[in-house]
Amino acid sequence: MRRNVYVGSAWPYPNGKLHLGHIAGLVPADVIARYHRLRGDRVLWTSGSDCHGTPITERARKEGVAPRDVAGRFHAGFIRTFDRLGFSYDLYGATMEPWHVQAVQESFLELHRKRLIVEGEELAAHCDACRDRRADREIGGTCPACHSAGARGDQCDACGRVLAPNELLSPVCRACGGAIRFERSRELFFDLPAFEPLLRDWVGRQSHWRVNAKGWTDGWLKEGLKRRTVTRAIDWGIPVPLPGWEDRRIYVWFEAVHGYLTASREWARRQGDPDAWKPFWTMTDPRALAYYVVGKDNIPFHTLLWPAVLMGLGLALPWQIVSSEYLTFGDAKLSKSTGTAITADKALDAYDPDALRWFLVAHGPERQDTPFTWERFVSVANADLANTYSNLVHRLLSFVARTYGGCLPDAKPFGERADALLEMVDRSFDEIGTLIERTELREAAARVLALAQVTNEFVSHEAPWVQIRTNASRAASAVSVALRVIAALAVLTQPFMPFQAQRLARLLAPAAADGEAAFSRWEAPTLKPGVRLAPPEPLFLRISAPSA
Ligand code: MF3
Ligand code: ZN
Repeated sequence: MRRNVYVGSAWPYPNGKLHLGHIAGLVPADVIARYHRLRGDRVLWTSGSDCHGTPITERARKEGVAPRDVAGRFHAGFIRTFDRLGFSYDLYGATMEPWHVQAVQESFLELHRKRLIVEGEELAAHCDACRDRRADREIGGTCPACHSAGARGDQCDACGRVLAPNELLSPVCRACGGAIRFERSRELFFDLPAFEPLLRDWVGRQSHWRVNAKGWTDGWLKEGLKRRTVTRAIDWGIPVPLPGWEDRRIYVWFEAVHGYLTASREWARRQGDPDAWKPFWTMTDPRALAYYVVGKDNIPFHTLLWPAVLMGLGLALPWQIVSSEYLTFGDAKLSKSTGTAITADKALDAYDPDALRWFLVAHGPERQDTPFTWERFVSVANADLANTYSNLVHRLLSFVARTYGGCLPDAKPFGERADALLEMVDRSFDEIGTLIERTELREAAARVLALAQVTNEFVSHEAPWVQIRTNASRAASAVSVALRVIAALAVLTQPFMPFQAQRLARLLAPAAADGEAAFSRWEAPTLKPGVRLAPPEPLFLRISAPSA
């Protein structure tokens, strides 16, 4: 059954360079998208740059330029970096593009018409230095009960008292230390509590989510859902499309999550079929699967807020929340500031993009914070890619070139070991596919590598370079069996290492019944004997750590 698979990955802020931590959170989206395309599913992967909000205006203020210039510059850089990494987005846009602005305003009006966005009053905490609202927990101050200085706007950890921000003595902004000013204001609210029963029921049924997605979501639900302001008194953002609200912009999180949908609609428009987005977003279609690939700090926006909006709009809810933990650099506490992190471009200047992708998926922060060091990266790349994978491929293809004039020998599998290996290949496609669909990408990658390992053992055991002198047909059998595994690996590695997989596919394609097309389906390609393969070249060489 051909499924409609939507993949959405988090929209990075274009206020600085992407570092390897960002990339670790995003590669899973490309793995999933590529796998589903190989499966023959219809895939739509959209994302873009999250251009509004304080991260961008802060940087613009420091540089003395317009927010649009900052966002535009880093956005262009993101596109180049994603290209270098081989990311196969169907559309990578930006929230400042007119199609997003317009589609968000339409959705805002629809939710307003349905009375899911309603007017109300609130006591707003402002930081004039940051020029933004501060949420309760972003405000610090002295506890009115125990006089501890470390209280927050939501509670005092010292005495445990639950607080409202205006109860704090001398409240300050925890981001910048500036004074907090309170004022009553009329705002528009998204009625999240209206969806609470539906959300509770739906979340309760998502037993396949990762532990962190479950945990963060249950935490929010436990506190109870509150209505959320969706208007802000700032300049840089999407204007609220209602009369009387001209001085307000739409809260950045509320509009950014819409980007998945607006970019899907824009993709459809560019296809020349404005309705092409619908099969991916139809609520009632059991063949529509949506993956959201996000960092752990984004979880509740994707498990509660966005699903509530989708319920309000009558669109398909998430299926998988591919919520990564963090890649950490040096002192873990410093890693959120990009200061100590390694930029993606620097890593790509020095190393093969596939080696980086492999490391970030096969050894990445899938279920726990994971430190990055060059030493670890280099030792993994050498062990997994150069020694195990590339070495298997290269010694076999070189042997074929030397011994059989570059042609796949004609032979029947010989013996139980050969049968067992070929069975393992057949099983691999289902097993690895299932793991990817469960978003267990580390384990999926480990299975790919295990197949190469077992094949290495098989080749060493069969030693065709020795057998060839005494038992030529057994040698030929071993070689042809191992080549069948290698052809399968050219497919199985594609989601993880698309560049090198394609290179290998090109080497083998002359012997495949339908050429390179044989490598674009999630199944083991069949090779014909007697056809000359392209001359072999090693896929991965050993690498060393960068010199300081
Ligand atoms: N820009 C946000 C961040 O980097 C993520 C936005 S994801 C989206 O944390 F859902 F809002 F698009
Ligand atoms: Zn501040």
